[in-house]
Amino acid sequence: MNDAPTTTPPKRLHVITWGCQMNVYDSARMADVLAPLGYAPSPDAGDADMVILNTCHIRDRATEKVFSELGRLRLLKLAREQAGGRMILAVAGCVAQAEGEQILARAPFVDIVLGPQTYHGLPEMVARASRAAGAVIDTEFPTEDKFDHLPDAAAPQGLTAFLTIQEGCDKFCAFCVVPYTRGAEHSRPQAAVLAEARRLVAQGSREITLLGQNVNAWHGAGADGAPSSLGRLVRALAEIPDLWRIRYMTSHPRDMDDDLIAAHGEVARLMPFLHLPVQSGSDRVLAAMNRRHTAADYLRIVERLRAARPDLALSTDVIVGHPGESRADFAATLALVRQAGFAQAFSFKYSARPGTPAAAAPGQVDEAEKDARLQELQALLREQQTAFNRSCVGLTVPVLFTGPGRHPGQVAGRSPWLHPVHVTGPAMLIGTETPVKIVAGHTNSLTATLPQQERACA
Ligand code: 5AD
Ligand code: SF4
Repeated sequence: MNDAPTTTPPKRLHVITWGCQMNVYDSARMADVLAPLGYAPSPDAGDADMVILNTCHIRDRATEKVFSELGRLRLLKLAREQAGGRMILAVAGCVAQAEGEQILARAPFVDIVLGPQTYHGLPEMVARASRAAGAVIDTEFPTEDKFDHLPDAAAPQGLTAFLTIQEGCDKFCAFCVVPYTRGAEHSRPQAAVLAEARRLVAQGSREITLLGQNVNAWHGAGADGAPSSLGRLVRALAEIPDLWRIRYMTSHPRDMDDDLIAAHGEVARLMPFLHLPVQSGSDRVLAAMNRRHTAADYLRIVERLRAARPDLALSTDVIVGHPGESRADFAATLALVRQAGFAQAFSFKYSARPGTPAAAAPGQVDEAEKDARLQELQALLREQQTAFNRSCVGLTVPVLFTGPGRHPGQVAGRSPWLHPVHVTGPAMLIGTETPVKIVAGHTNSLTATLPQQERACA
């Protein structure tokens, strides 16, 4: 008699992720909490049993893009139903948080709408959605800690990993939706962060990027139960054997305290690359943005960071055309960029987010003028990025090799400054941190040679 055991085939989960690294991290955590229900990741939305659209509210026309993507997913869902199957469709992330009711009203075929604070409840929502005909909505800001509910057995992330230590923001920059969509600042306790970091390292991660909307405002409970600081957390993480590299993003200049600046000089494992958004170089605009720092404050912080860690490279975010920004204000932004010198930057045209103070402010800047300013700014930023990459040529720098390169016989990794680095070399370099000599600096990457190759060529 053939008594083969019956196994339930895995259910297919397709996750579409838009937006920042926090969303990438959250998507991985959602996959983790659904794994015990039998969901395994699938690259294809068409034959998925569940599709999660993890949305981002920062970008222009965010809500419209969600509805357009939902229109496409609806067709896939219908096709699957016609074939006798079922597809659970969930919308997560910041648009779900901000527009939950509107999504269910305009897209009733969506089964689940969940905000960023409620991912741990996803298995229950899926179970309810599987039974119920009506949709399930959960976009509360619960007081309990969503992180406490996430399973320990998270999937390995590989050599470079992300770890969310802080969520939300109390800064209320006039242009930004994050304080409304992600809620108030909340920091995970140090013990929970260290435990997750140790697990990631045990799973093979060698570089961890600490994430938070306002990561340097982290003030989780320290070892003694009292609120700690990011500088102290970084020092504690640096004690973990086999954690070679530590990074953190995104920071606010106001929270760059003395201890954190000192940590950049004292903790060798803290990488010499910092993303520190400045947004504008004009004090008038910075005040209108409610940034609570001046251009001089920012430059002073940069100077102190570089005094602590001379090889520190900076990246930033800049907005052009914020309400009230004149040509002179924009010129001040260009001047600040020239003075600070950025290795990398993200630049945006201001775009109104409904419900934020800047959206209703006088002095909205003409679209064509914003375009012109953005082009001028980006030309300068490109110049700085290329100059920085070229300045690396001739240096011998440690590269964390993470995988095969683009071409056969190549391996690829990351420089301390987050550049992708390509080297002709053996696959056994993957998983090592190896010094290599930079021989070419391109717009977005570096080419290097191994020391032996260099000798062979000499
Ligand atoms: N318009 C343009 N850029 C914005 N950002 C946030 N909100 C807006 C907006 N309304 C940019 C900021 C922030 C980055 C993540 O996105 O520069 O630092
Ligand atoms: Fe938004 Fe960052 Fe300002 Fe917070 S600090 S309101 S996340 S731009």
